[in-house]
Amino acid sequence: MNFTTRNNKVIRISKYCPGDLDDLFHYLQHLGEATRKRFGPHPFDRSSLQDFHASPEHAGYIATENDAGRIIAYAIIKNGMLHHDIPRLQSYGLQPDASGDCTFAPSVADDWQSFGIGDGLFRFILSDVSEKKQKRIILWGGVQADNQKAVNYYLKNGFNMLGQFDYNGPNYDMILNLP
Ligand SMILES: CC(C)(COP(=O)(O)OP(=O)(O)OC[C@H]1O[C@@H](n2cnc3c(N)ncnc32)[C@H](O)[C@@H]1OP(=O)(O)O)[C@@H](O)C(=O)NCCC(=O)NCCS
Repeated sequence: MNFTTRNNKVIRISKYCPGDLDDLFHYLQHLGEATRKRFGPHPFDRSSLQDFHASPEHAGYIATENDAGRIIAYAIIKNGMLHHDIPRLQSYGLQPDASGDCTFAPSVADDWQSFGIGDGLFRFILSDVSEKKQKRIILWGGVQADNQKAVNYYLKNGFNMLGQFDYNGPNYDMILNLP
């Protein structure tokens, strides 16, 4: 899917495939410190990336700048809930639904944030998740309460607060219920 950003650049959004490994490695190695502090669902070395994406439980999504062919955003959907988050999610009254739940972690390269790419990526992911008949999208390890950009992003895209927990400071669990 092609998409025009707020700064008038055409980017392509697609599912990650193994041929994207080198570009994804480069993207992750060049993520700025601020974004690395917020986004770290898996280690960023090549073999961890390969292992992670070899699992049928995981889907990756990338946005590529059309002019330079570089990856500028990357997001993950994991089927089901994150294992170690289940007790916390159950404390809000959620029961795991292996086929209906999925878990989401997004990132956009520092220089490309706030131009609409996160929204575009999420629209693409939503259509994929809906095709798989998944019904709930849960944040991967929640979101840090002081990450206002991300909290706004999730609220704008229809997520609701489930509750708050402490891990290196306050964090929110959020969920999107799909029709
Ligand atoms: C959070 C993130 C994925 C959002 O993607 P993005 O491309 O920057 O966001 P978009 O430009 O598509 O904006 C979507 C919404 O996010 C919020 N947002 C984006 N930039 C913002 C800013 N600078 N300040 C406040 N809210 C902001 C707004 O609600 C915005 O909607 P609006 O443009 O209608 O106001 C991206 O900023 C990012 O990767 N951040 C670092 C990593 C991270 O925090 N990941 C999430 C971990 S839980």
